Amino acid sequence: MPYSLLVRHCGQLLSLAGGPTSQPLAGAAMRQWQVITDGYVACEQGRIVAVGPMAELDEGQVTPETQIVEAQGRVVMPGLVECHTHLVFGGNRAAEFQRKLQGESYLDILASGGGILSTVRATRAASDAQLLDNALHHLAGFRRYGITTLEAKTGYGLDAETELRLLQAARLAGAQQPVRVISTFLGAHVPGPEYGGRPAEYLEMLAAEVLPRLNPEEVPFVDIFCEQGAFSVAESRRYLAQAQTLGFGLKIHAEQLHDLGGCEMAAELGAISVDHCDYLTPAAAARIAALTSGRTVAVLLPLVPLFLRQEQYAPGRAFIDVGLPVAISTDFNPGSCPSKNLWLALSVACLKMGLTPYEALAAVTLNAAWAIGQQHECGSLEPGKRADILVLDVPTAEEIPYWLGENPVRTVIIGGEVQTD
Ligand code: NIG
Ligand code: FE
Repeated sequence: MPYSLLVRHCGQLLSLAGGPTSQPLAGAAMRQWQVITDGYVACEQGRIVAVGPMAELDEGQVTPETQIVEAQGRVVMPGLVECHTHLVFGGNRAAEFQRKLQGESYLDILASGGGILSTVRATRAASDAQLLDNALHHLAGFRRYGITTLEAKTGYGLDAETELRLLQAARLAGAQQPVRVISTFLGAHVPGPEYGGRPAEYLEMLAAEVLPRLNPEEVPFVDIFCEQGAFSVAESRRYLAQAQTLGFGLKIHAEQLHDLGGCEMAAELGAISVDHCDYLTPAAAARIAALTSGRTVAVLLPLVPLFLRQEQYAPGRAFIDVGLPVAISTDFNPGSCPSKNLWLALSVACLKMGLTPYEALAAVTLNAAWAIGQQHECGSLEPGKRADILVLDVPTAEEIPYWLGENPVRTVIIGGEVQTD
C-alpha cells in the first residue's frame, strides 16, 4: 500500500525507539534513545509504517496521493502524552491565587473550605453542557501545545452523581475532537463535603456505590489523594486494594506536601504510577524501583511547586540515577497548576529537578505513555503506533527546553491527520 502521509527531511527525528519494550525507560535508557539525522516518518491509515533516514526511504511507496509534510531540517518527534490532568471542572480559583500571594498555604486554604472544595461547589453548579464546553476548550489548548493523548481525572464532583457526570463529560469531549482522552476516577480527591471528618465512610460509599458502576475498559484507572486533609495511607491502601479487585489499574497522588509513605504503599500494590513525589526520598525511590522491577512510573509535576510557591521539588535526578522511571506532566487543574504548557513543565523539570533535555523528552512521551498504559499506541515513532507526530520550530532537541515558556510546535499530526488550527 502506498503511503498516505510522509513527513520528510526531519533534521533530527526523535524516534524515542531503541530502549526495552517490556518496561518504561529507566536509568541511562532515559537519555540514550534513537535520534535519526535527516529522517522520515511514513504512515498509512493513521498508523506509522516506516521510520528511517531519508537515504532509505522507499520512493516506490510515495505516490501523487501521498500527503507530504516538509520538515525542512526541523525536529520531528512523537505527539506529547499528558499523563495527569484534572480536565473537567467548573469555575476557576483566580481569587485564591491572591490569597496564596499574600502567604496562605495550599492546605490552609483547603482547611478553610476553599481550594478543591470551592471548585467542587462551582462544578456541581455547572450544567453538563458547560462542563463539556470547558473540557473542549482546554483540549483545544492542549492540542495546540502538541498534546495528542491526555489523561483526565474526575474529582471535583465528590458525590456519585456529579462524579459520573464528569466521566461522561470527559468521554464526550474525547469523542468530539482528535486528542485521545483516557479517563481516571479520582472520586477520592478529598472527602465529599457531606462527609466532613468521615473520610473512611466516604471511601466506603465510593467503593460500594460508584466503582461497581464503572467499566475498567472505559475508565482504566482509580486514583486517590493521600495527604493530610485528604486520605491517610491506611485509608488509601484499603480503597486502592478494593479498586484493584474490581479490575482497575491504580494511581496515587502522594508525597506532594509531606512524606507519608503513600508512594511506596501504592507501588507495593502494583500501581502503574505514583504522582507528585516532591517529598519522596531517593532511598524510597530506589526501593520502589527494586520492588516493581522498574514498572511503576514516578509522574513529576514541576509546575505545581512553582505555582504553590513551594521550595521542595521532586529529586528527579536522583530518581533516574536509582533506576526509577520518570514521566512529566502539567497536573493541569484550577488550584495547583492552571497551565497547559507541558513544554514549560519540561523546562522546569530540567531547571529544578535536574533532568537532562533528553531525559525530559522521554518523560513527556514514551514514559508518559507507560504511566497511562498507552505505550503500545503512542509515545514513540515506531511502526504500528498511531501516527501522532509533531514538527517543531527548532533544529535540535537541546533547544526545546531552552526557549523557556515558548510553544515550539509548528505542525500537529494526530492519527495521521494534519491539524489545521
Ligand atoms: O494534583 N493535589 C491534589 N489535587 C490536585 C490539585 C487540585 C486542586 O487544588 O484543585 C493536584 O495538585
Ligand atoms: Fe493532580
